[in-house]
Amino acid sequence: MISSHSDALVFFGATGDLAYKKIFPSLQAMVKRGHLNVPVVGVAKAGWNLDQLRARAKDSLEKHGGLDPAAFEKLIALLRYVDGDYQEPSTFAALRNELKDAQRPAHYLAIPPVLFETVVEHLSESNCGRGARVIVEKPFGHDLASAQELNKVLLGVFDEADTFRIDHYLGKRAVNNVLAFRFANTFVEAFWNRHYIESVEITMAEDFGVQGRGGFYDQTGTIRDVVQNHLFQVLSNLIMEPPVRADSESLRDEKVKVLKAIPPIEEKNLVRGQFRGYRDENGVAKDSQTETFAAVKLEVNSWRWKGVPFYIRAGKCLPTTCTEIVGKFRKPPTLISDSLLVENHLRLRLSPEITIAMGMMNLSPNAEGLSLQSSEMMASHSPRADEMDAYERVLGAAMTGDSTLFAREDYVEEAWRIVEPVLKKNTPIYPYAANTWGPEEVDRVTPPGGWSNPGDKKAIALTSEAA
Ligand code: BG6
Repeated sequence: MISSHSDALVFFGATGDLAYKKIFPSLQAMVKRGHLNVPVVGVAKAGWNLDQLRARAKDSLEKHGGLDPAAFEKLIALLRYVDGDYQEPSTFAALRNELKDAQRPAHYLAIPPVLFETVVEHLSESNCGRGARVIVEKPFGHDLASAQELNKVLLGVFDEADTFRIDHYLGKRAVNNVLAFRFANTFVEAFWNRHYIESVEITMAEDFGVQGRGGFYDQTGTIRDVVQNHLFQVLSNLIMEPPVRADSESLRDEKVKVLKAIPPIEEKNLVRGQFRGYRDENGVAKDSQTETFAAVKLEVNSWRWKGVPFYIRAGKCLPTTCTEIVGKFRKPPTLISDSLLVENHLRLRLSPEITIAMGMMNLSPNAEGLSLQSSEMMASHSPRADEMDAYERVLGAAMTGDSTLFAREDYVEEAWRIVEPVLKKNTPIYPYAANTWGPEEVDRVTPPGGWSNPGDKKAIALTSEAA
């Protein structure tokens, strides 16, 4: 009987950027935790040998997360290397050879999407695909048609249960904590709906640019890079109904169901921006029309959310690095005048730290009469140094065959359906200065009361007030 745990891990793109920044650190962490004890075969076309790949792994770990001598030694002993062109059958014959008697290898395609099809076909022809799993990096396709085509190719060789579409946001504790917050607390259900919530916004801000990934980024843009995948996963966790059973399919069913309730984004509900200086980056076209910033407004026509606008904003070279959700409550039917009511909100910060904060009005302790202030009651923690990284979590899950942390094809297709029409419309691109919150035109797509910029909430923590 074939073991359910993969008995080899193959990663294509072994000499690339993703391997350098994310994969080697995750592999070392898996070894350290005792979660990885099978051959790890790197594949690339670099003219390298195994010693060069080992040196690259060492360098990667020294720069990203730190080298753990004992775990590194073990990882190095597991590491194998196949050098060759992805177009050549001989590369895959060499891989089959290196896999020896492995019966359940997991093939991780950490390579540019244009190569997926070629690699999958060669995996099949060389018998490397037999009994195997495949793990595919995002973005899954470039639009709906290419996602469907890629899916056809994958499912021609692998079963859906053996196909893992990576979205590393699904491996983040903070993203899963949104579900825990919603479904482990009775009180949340009472207000998390159209009767109490006026608007919801999600901001994913990064204070850096494209970091040498100009070639990839210019073909991708913010919407394909993080909105259609990472931020839609965050959104789904915020708006889906509770799953009816605890298995991975029931959870993924709910996510697909709620995406179906979102109409395609209209042109008037999108603002795209590009930071000044982007066109000077290596690999970026001098007249590039690719966005490095996007703000969108979405409708969710479900029973729970109809009429509540959802705003998503993401960008490079913004003033800070932070991912945060703010749900604003409707105003109460009070006799207190509107001008005095500042804000009542729920704030969920996903990174850099995990925070759940309730913003509420209370009488100011420093003044007499009806003088209100906004305070936050807050639970917050920073990730522990030894906490699993999202990549470690998703790679480990794929190797055991657990699909929960991966995007299902119907989900990916629904996500493309929502963003694709507006992506194809060549909407204007507005320049913005680095270290600002995007172009001025973003005013057109702004939640009632304005965007909540991370760090703006000068609310007093009730806990520390009481001390
Ligand atoms: C990647 C994008 O998928 O996610 C990057 O390609 C982005 O552009 C990154 O910076 C953000 O991931 P994280 O885990 O640092 O929030």
